[in-house]
Amino acid sequence: MKTVKIGLLGLGTVGGGVYKLIERQKSEMVSKTGADVEIAKILVHNRNKKREGIDESLLTDQWKDIIEDKEIDIVVEVMGGIEPAKTIITEALKAGKNVVTANKDLLAVCGEDLLEIAAAHHVDLMFEAAVAGGIPIMRPLRQCLAGNEITEVTGIVNGTTNYILTKMFELGMSFEEALAKATELGYAEADPTADIEGLDAGRKVAIMATSAFHSKVVFDDVHIEGITKITAQDIKYAKEFDSVIKLIGIARNTESGIEACVYPMLLSSEHPLASVRNSFNAVFVHGDAVDDVMFYGRGAGEFPTASAVMGDIIDVIRDMVNGCTGRISNTCYRELPVKKCRD
Ligand code: NDP
Ligand code: HSE
Repeated sequence: MKTVKIGLLGLGTVGGGVYKLIERQKSEMVSKTGADVEIAKILVHNRNKKREGIDESLLTDQWKDIIEDKEIDIVVEVMGGIEPAKTIITEALKAGKNVVTANKDLLAVCGEDLLEIAAAHHVDLMFEAAVAGGIPIMRPLRQCLAGNEITEVTGIVNGTTNYILTKMFELGMSFEEALAKATELGYAEADPTADIEGLDAGRKVAIMATSAFHSKVVFDDVHIEGITKITAQDIKYAKEFDSVIKLIGIARNTESGIEACVYPMLLSSEHPLASVRNSFNAVFVHGDAVDDVMFYGRGAGEFPTASAVMGDIIDVIRDMVNGCTGRISNTCYRELPVKKCRD
């Protein structure tokens, strides 16, 4: 029986969740995949940090220890940021290692280039956790709904801002207090500016649009407004109109081109997205064959995100066992014009 070895890059909120989930799922792996699994090495920034319940002999602060380890089959990147993540992932793919990542910053600028490298080296590059945390949305867009002409992907795709808006609306919390709480709960990015200025949601819109419309959409194509200008007064007015304010991401494939944008919207309390509270996300998809589909669940946090990463790991191991890695990295794109929502 093969033991698949994992190199984990990052042991923060998500990496810690992945570590615990692998431990929890260990005895189930053979029946789920046909192989055993083990974490062989873990890359961290600060090896001296106190980390409870972690086998410290696995820690390294040198990423080459992982890439150059021929026994490591899968690299799980949950460290975030563009560099050194981009270089490490590229080197891992070129070394014939499968990669699972939650890194939307990176995917929104060069995801398709990385997929091309993965395809050229017949390895998997999986990224379910990069959009909407625990909600399965990338696999549906790339696989289950591939038989559709998808014309719209709309929803709440940032847990931090949805948590802040919910707490301001329901408890009268201040923006700053709600942001501090979201950070404490592990929902916010390392730099929460990415959440509150709508950048994180914009990245997710670009990633979803690329898969949904089968055409390259990058972060710069997305028109973005965050929630930093929302005041207690705005919340009060929304209540008077029996409405809520939500940060909505929209990607549409129209006759004149692809529109991609993120901005705060006033929604009637009857609207299906109005009842999506706290760190929950929801994504609505319209396809010509399936009609309307909606996905709902926890959009951020340790275990919901680890759930998505673990699903990818399990899929990669199944591909490895069946000798078919690289199966879904291989993608060709059509060229559609991209226009900004408010052009
Ligand atoms: P954290 O900041 O909690 O953890 C980051 C981890 O990566 C830490 O262990 C850190 O080491 C390590 N790290 C960071 N930079 C380096 C470096 N240059 N070299 C070595 N190690 C490094 O981040 P999260 O776990 O919250 O997020 C990780 C990724 O997952 C990001 O891409 C994020 O966008 C994405 N994501 C996060 C979600 C969430 O709910 N938090 C949900 C979905 C995706 P050390 O511990 O020593 O500081
Ligand atoms: N900071 C992100 C959010 C994490 O709040 O949605 C999940 O991608």
